[in-house]
Amino acid sequence: MLVLGIESSCDETAAAVVRDGREVLTNIVASQHEIHAEFGGVVPELASRAHAERITGVLQEAVEQAGVTLDQIDAVAVGHRPGLIGALLVGVSSAKALSWSLGVPLVGVDHIRAHLWAGLLGSDLALDNVYPALGLVVSGGHSSIFRMTGPNDLELLGSTIDDAIGEAYDKAAAILGLGHPGGPAIDRLAREPGADDRAVDLPVSRLGKESLDFSFSGLKTALLYAVRGVPGPGGIFPRTIDELDPSRKRDLAASFQRAACRAVLFKLERASQTGAFRTLLVGGGVSANSKLRNDLKVWTDRIGMNLILPEMSYCVDNAAMIAGLAFDRLQQGQADGLELRASPSATP
Ligand code: KG4
Ligand code: ZN
Repeated sequence: MLVLGIESSCDETAAAVVRDGREVLTNIVASQHEIHAEFGGVVPELASRAHAERITGVLQEAVEQAGVTLDQIDAVAVGHRPGLIGALLVGVSSAKALSWSLGVPLVGVDHIRAHLWAGLLGSDLALDNVYPALGLVVSGGHSSIFRMTGPNDLELLGSTIDDAIGEAYDKAAAILGLGHPGGPAIDRLAREPGADDRAVDLPVSRLGKESLDFSFSGLKTALLYAVRGVPGPGGIFPRTIDELDPSRKRDLAASFQRAACRAVLFKLERASQTGAFRTLLVGGGVSANSKLRNDLKVWTDRIGMNLILPEMSYCVDNAAMIAGLAFDRLQQGQADGLELRASPSATP
């Protein structure tokens, strides 16, 4: 079964053709980073406009490069929640038009759940060997832990009470004077020779004895104070970013990264004690982070859990994961009609 997937929830316009949920024939992603960089974050209006301009070309490329024709497509899938509403509407409208004109089913897919399918792309691991799983989504918009009994059967165990981890990475990068998106920039800097990840002791929030929630805003503020000093009367900082020398900058990036990863591992350790899990499924842009990938590997090896990490190209937003999860919904006999709605929130 060939599924054409569409993703437009934030700042990536993406389309992909995936066979039987696992075999990725094409995965086209048109990123808008250059549009939003000067604002230091995603501007929703600009994102919608860029999606509208790019979606047709991206779809065409995905189908043509897959070596198939539109009449061979068996279903059209679209990430319809959560995300920026104007951005989602571009993908949802395109998917409706395509499914209607081709006369094939339309499948709405939850973007967060799709991130947890990304690790299964390209693998032939039977689902019976995956679930029950712990699901970890670490992205620019979400930091959540789930108990999963199937790709679409999830129970939220914990999530962030303030910033998402990727958002914290992006803000930390802004504080350190690095570009947007900041995650890859901090990851690179922290890996430079000589970077000392214990140079500055940054806080790891625990939020009480049993909480499985995350909080990253304190970490971000602690980094700000480490860079610019504690503000005095009138909120004036004693230092500017220009006073940061390159080696201190490296140390701060590495220290931030260490604290962010420790926060994730700390909550995962707690979550793993709430039941029996075959695997740890991970997804979202921050699952591309080199230290997090390594720390997760070491931890799962130690406790004897199977780790399923997405390939690097499937960590950030993409449409292959959308088409992949849609295949599972279709297998369950589920599809949507033209009444499918885009929704900014995660719950239907
Ligand atoms: O999953 P994603 O593409 O979008 C959302 O669904 O939010 O995630 C984007 C986030 C950004 O915050 C970006 O800085 C972060 O993923 N990111 C990284 C890395 N690559 C991307 N964070 C840390 N290390 C990386 N290597
Ligand atoms: Zn995402």
